[in-house]
Amino acid sequence: MKKLRLLFFIAPLLGLQLCAIAQTTEWKEVEPGVWKTVVGKPGDYNLLTAAGAKPNQQALEKLGSAAFPLQKSEIEFRVENGKTYLRFPLQRQEQLFGFGLNFQTVYQRGKILELHVDHYGGKDNGRTHAPVPFYVSSNGYGVFINSAEYIKVWAGTGVRKDSPNFPTPKDRNTDKKWSSRPYSDAVEMLVPAEGAEIYVFGGPTALDAVKRYNLMNGGGVLPPRWGLGFTQRVMTRSTEQDVETEVENFKQKGYPLDFIGLEPGWQSKAYPGTFSWDKNRFPNPPAFVENMKQKGVRLNLWINPYVSPDAPFYKEILPYTASHTVWLGVIPDFTMSEARKPFFNQLKTDQVDMGVSGYKIDEVDGYDYYLWPDVTKFPSGHSAEQMRQTYGLLAMRYTADLFKERNQRTYGLVRASNGGASALPYVLYNDYYNHEDFITALINSGFAGVLWTPEVRASKTAEEWLRRFQSNVFSPMAMINAWSTGTKPWTYPEVEKQVKEFALLRMKMMPYWYSEFAKYHFEGIPPFRAMNLEPGFNQEVVSQEQKNVNLQENPYAEAASKEIKDQYMAGENLLVAPMFTGQTSRKVVLPKGKWFDFYTGKLAGDGEVINVTPGLDIIPVFVKDGGIVPMMPPLLHAPKAEEKVNLEIRYYGTKPGTYQLYDDDGETFNYEKGAYSFRTISVNRKADKIVGNIAKSEKGKPNSFATITFTMMTK
Ligand code: GAL
Repeated sequence: MKKLRLLFFIAPLLGLQLCAIAQTTEWKEVEPGVWKTVVGKPGDYNLLTAAGAKPNQQALEKLGSAAFPLQKSEIEFRVENGKTYLRFPLQRQEQLFGFGLNFQTVYQRGKILELHVDHYGGKDNGRTHAPVPFYVSSNGYGVFINSAEYIKVWAGTGVRKDSPNFPTPKDRNTDKKWSSRPYSDAVEMLVPAEGAEIYVFGGPTALDAVKRYNLMNGGGVLPPRWGLGFTQRVMTRSTEQDVETEVENFKQKGYPLDFIGLEPGWQSKAYPGTFSWDKNRFPNPPAFVENMKQKGVRLNLWINPYVSPDAPFYKEILPYTASHTVWLGVIPDFTMSEARKPFFNQLKTDQVDMGVSGYKIDEVDGYDYYLWPDVTKFPSGHSAEQMRQTYGLLAMRYTADLFKERNQRTYGLVRASNGGASALPYVLYNDYYNHEDFITALINSGFAGVLWTPEVRASKTAEEWLRRFQSNVFSPMAMINAWSTGTKPWTYPEVEKQVKEFALLRMKMMPYWYSEFAKYHFEGIPPFRAMNLEPGFNQEVVSQEQKNVNLQENPYAEAASKEIKDQYMAGENLLVAPMFTGQTSRKVVLPKGKWFDFYTGKLAGDGEVINVTPGLDIIPVFVKDGGIVPMMPPLLHAPKAEEKVNLEIRYYGTKPGTYQLYDDDGETFNYEKGAYSFRTISVNRKADKIVGNIAKSEKGKPNSFATITFTMMTK
């Protein structure tokens, strides 16, 4: 005992830090390949409780077990002065992805971030619409901090003096190899709370870890079929007549339209809102909604959740709102049922019951001058910080419940999300309007369990309009957000024809998109994701081949030295390489194997970096060898439940291929009770013939397909 006391006394003199000794941690395998530990006393409000996330145990079991991916003794935690310090080891060559919806970078090793829900301000510093505290390693594992605090992250920057990998200090005066950022062997985090829940997701691949993360949150969202069609948002203060004219124009001109979004102006007051129809602009809402429905067009309503004194439920909700306001509207404390009841009951009775199909939940992200300060008091006792980190989650969750109660799927828009959100039926968007960065965000969304739309609003030139539109079609929500410009798909006559073709292509591809979202839901595979999650593009390949930097011989050296943030995978089989304004050619890094041109079926390259010069009419898209893409005719609205459409199965390449085609009623949650099917499509080459096959539809299961044909794209 005396000796121990002496050690504590002399330790600081010797420069030893006894407080940094690792807390022995118990890792509990909560699901196969998923481990959890609780550090300190975290309290019971966190990202997963806010999101209401529930694991899909069956799917996790199907994925099977995995080895604990890290050296347990190298993970260290401590709680000191009410704060939690976390340290996870990093290997040499290991790359990190994730930490939320970043817009400019895919590689996160070497970053310092403060994860804080906010409007994206042009820098990847942790302040973003979905600052999800989840990172994925190229070594094939993931780490999630289930905490609703502003977490600080040093993703491989700090160098500890007791590091077993301590670099040899160099003399800057004489040594050219001196570095201002010496090698660091750990991810370190600071959670400003007395504890945190931590999850580790096993591999063996990075994609396996992502799948486990999504499945822990209940699996990815399965949108209604119509959600994957085309959507237009009309200008603020549009009237019923304006909306009807818009819908009529789409029909006349032959452009697809599945849902139309109303921006501020449908409510009697906005900023803050009354959540009641404006009777001047919309004299008869039930008739209007019904009329739209008859035309096959659903309605999405813009809101932000800040309540005007003129809202019919203002008095009722007032005691359950925060001390501060946003645009002088009160802020409901959505963690309290007393606040939820009047708010969501208003949406239900005034809009959802009438047939409105979803919401766009705006301004739940930031920025600081608009939202509540961190000194704000919420009646539930949750801190302003916790509420900022989770407000988007709460708004998504409880609006989604309104539809779930009716056994009706929704698909909406939101400007803030966070960890635990994979199953929530919302797509993120923002006001930042950089095409290149929108694509990088789309890539990063796949590491964060969220969806992102590179919406189009307006453009300086017809070229820019078309280029943005083409990317938009290969994203989770194909949308024109014309709230301030009134732009239509046909606004730029020089490219009207091409825009229409791509809008219709979106519709043709619906069976593919729908099947890929089903894989997000049932298997956790993000439908839009980074090249780094694609086999044949991974870091092991990169690091082995890094010595040889001849790009001719080793295309992956490109990927090793530079992150790829302008091309991505769309579903199982497609690689999309958007073109940006002013570009006439671009490089595309093809993963190992042969890749085929989506439009012609011709061989495009074989595990190499290719240079493409596609012309304005084309967004380069490539199909994996043996890739199958199921398509339907270019309808102007998604097929309704029980409506049958013809199916054209396209096959590309030289290898035999298989594909799981998903089907259900497209609108309800009956798939949760087994009313769905995956039909296996297979294509084989026999001698000189290519033979395609599709499993029969199962009796008693939904079947949306009439005539089925095969098109062998590669001759
Ligand atoms: C912004 C939003 C836009 C539009 C606008 C309406 O906050 O990002 O998409 O909805 O509000 O006022």
